[in-house]
Amino acid sequence: MPCSPEFQLDHAGLVAWLREEDPGALARLGAEADRVRREHVGDAVHLRGLVEVSSHCVRSCLYCGLRAPEEDLDRYRLEAEEILACACSAAALGYGTVVLQGGEDPGLTRDFIAEVIGAIKRQTRLAVTLSLGERDDEDLLAWREAGADRYLLRFETADRALYRRVHPSLPGRLSDRLGQLRRLRDMGYEIGSGVMIGLPGQTWDTLATDLRRFRELDLDMVGVGPFLPSPRTPLGGPGALAFLAPPALQVPNDEPTTLKVVALSRLLCPDANIPATTALATLDRDQGRELALQRGANVVMPNVTPPAFRARYEIYPGKACVGETAEACRDCLAGRLRTLGRSVAKGPGGRLSTLRQEMSLSAPHR
Ligand code: 5AD
Ligand code: FES
Repeated sequence: MPCSPEFQLDHAGLVAWLREEDPGALARLGAEADRVRREHVGDAVHLRGLVEVSSHCVRSCLYCGLRAPEEDLDRYRLEAEEILACACSAAALGYGTVVLQGGEDPGLTRDFIAEVIGAIKRQTRLAVTLSLGERDDEDLLAWREAGADRYLLRFETADRALYRRVHPSLPGRLSDRLGQLRRLRDMGYEIGSGVMIGLPGQTWDTLATDLRRFRELDLDMVGVGPFLPSPRTPLGGPGALAFLAPPALQVPNDEPTTLKVVALSRLLCPDANIPATTALATLDRDQGRELALQRGANVVMPNVTPPAFRARYEIYPGKACVGETAEACRDCLAGRLRTLGRSVAKGPGGRLSTLRQEMSLSAPHR
């Protein structure tokens, strides 16, 4: 069914939807996103086991609680055996993908990560997603050859001046996440990206451009969550005031706005995998994930990091599920999905395999 003219989303249309406050109109937007989600990726929800492999980071992103200048953190880097054990527990819990996420940590060497990927691939049937920041092409190629399937790297904002202000470059190396995303695609990775909602300095206009970029990049995965101030960071205290756009233009870091962006992402990228993010669950523990799943999302990324390390991976404070075991999260999520009338998906659930499946389902019988 084609979208009605109400959902033809040029730049002005996107800005209007982002600023929309009428409950009836927002209910129509959510219902349309839910319909498109069902039509393109179905009712099953993919669960991806998240392993927070290292809290070391060389970068100084102004919003992130793990930024390098933070000296008092009790940082850790998991051993290969520990990562493998997390992956095996993700497989045992019935998840189809393991996501290895960490700070930009040179201690996670090319060979170390390649060996970990190889071991996961030998011992499980999991798809492997990496989220390890900006890395050299040689690293990315080696990891792809070792079997990595997907890479997540949020571009955070399409506003280049704001991007530069909040992401200080490393000496002698310009930060270029869009370039890396394109190269990852050429290497055969599925690529995921996204932005925070309500980053100080983010305007409605910029956010509409972010959304259009999701489509231009033909993203396989789109992740968005609210900006959550981390008190230790430059954007977590009064210093953030200097970054804010004028009140009429500044995007708020709230749940309604995040949900609008989830829904619009689904309309713009109908067959992408879109998670209900932990940041949204942190903002609204009761209903955050459910509301996103009812407005376009089709993925959840439960944490499988050993609880002893989870609290030490504090990108922002109060992260949902920090004290829970992997089994507790699986059972909790299964119950929540049941309440929504949604099932747990089987298999790796990549965008390409889903598309292929769809094509073979719709192919005429011979
Ligand atoms: N609030 C919300 N999300 C954050 N991230 C980093 N810091 C914060 C914060 N303070 C997000 C970034 C990053 C992802 C791993 O976590 O978008 O890409
Ligand atoms: Fe972790 Fe509910 S998903 S406790």
